[in-house]
Amino acid sequence: MNELIVVTGGTGYIGSHTTVELLEAGYDVLIIDNLANSRIEVLDGIEKIAGRRPFFEELDICNKAGVLDCFERYPGIKAIIHFAAHKAVPESVAKPLMYYENNLVSLINLLQAMKEHRIKHFVFSSSCTVYGQPDKLPVTEKSPIKIASSPYGNTKQISEEIINDTILAGDGLDAICLRYFNPVGAHTSAEIGELPLGVPQNLVPFITQTAIGIREELSVFGDDYNTPDGSAVRDYINVVDLSRAHVVSINRLLSGKNKRDLEIFNLGTGTGLSVFEVIKAFVEATGVEFKYKVVDRRDGDIEQVYADTTLANDELGWKAEVGLIDTMKSAWAWEQNIRNQME
Ligand code: UD1
Repeated sequence: MNELIVVTGGTGYIGSHTTVELLEAGYDVLIIDNLANSRIEVLDGIEKIAGRRPFFEELDICNKAGVLDCFERYPGIKAIIHFAAHKAVPESVAKPLMYYENNLVSLINLLQAMKEHRIKHFVFSSSCTVYGQPDKLPVTEKSPIKIASSPYGNTKQISEEIINDTILAGDGLDAICLRYFNPVGAHTSAEIGELPLGVPQNLVPFITQTAIGIREELSVFGDDYNTPDGSAVRDYINVVDLSRAHVVSINRLLSGKNKRDLEIFNLGTGTGLSVFEVIKAFVEATGVEFKYKVVDRRDGDIEQVYADTTLANDELGWKAEVGLIDTMKSAWAWEQNIRNQME
């Protein structure tokens, strides 16, 4: 019997890639997901790649009785990786209560259920959004946390505090918070990838959907930033690289190698890229041109952010490996594959 890891949000974008990496590393996986923003067919994609199917429970983690019942039915859970959350910044501004309720109640329910079932190890999906617009670049884990610019960002900050306070209370929890920069790309098999419902909010899915003809043109939000080419700069991290960091974190917690009860790591490449550089890389990687135009800045966007990944490199022994061109190729292969499947 392999060790059993719970992945909440495991049919989602990062959750599905992480499930594959966990299965391939020899763990069993129980996905808990309410399919609010994902499709059940993702399980087939996972099985095709990993040769094994994860256990699956369709469940909203805001339903505490459901979570307790689920943990009852799967004894021996060793650790939990918590991805399930709402993540659209503008939607969070329009519907703050929905964001606070969903993202915080689910976390509290999980931590309470973990305590009842004596499950100790927890990996939390956090975000570079906690740094806001940093005063100094690249950002380290010691960079100051800025007042959140959206309810979504605030839920990530509050979640980290909830986890830390739970640890301080001596509830027998140890945890790793992973602060993602901008996850992009797809599994090289093109069996799983990002599939936003409706109009994509994020850059790379908008690019691939424009290139395939679903969208007419990409809007570049601002070319008057104080950056080399005027467009905003982010740290785009390949989703498989990002997922590997979760397996490393689980190994670390299960082997007791973590140094503190709460460890926090930045997950990025360490390189900042502008929107124009991403567009150029996509065209170079795929040979596919698409239309774009410069429009006004998007509300709430920051000018630039990229990671100092020294801590993750040194402590986790993890580093980003896949280059931008291969990442763009993978995003494009996935977009083509999923549209063929959906036809
Ligand atoms: C933000 C958050 C991130 C969060 C993510 C969830 C920050 C720094 N990052 O990412 O933590 O997990 O939302 O959705 O707060 N762009 C365009 N045209 C488009 C779409 C995007 O030009 O159609 C530009 C944006 O202005 C930005 C860059 O592309 O400069 C990346 O945007 P996006 O992919 O939406 O991610 P962030 O806003 O950086």
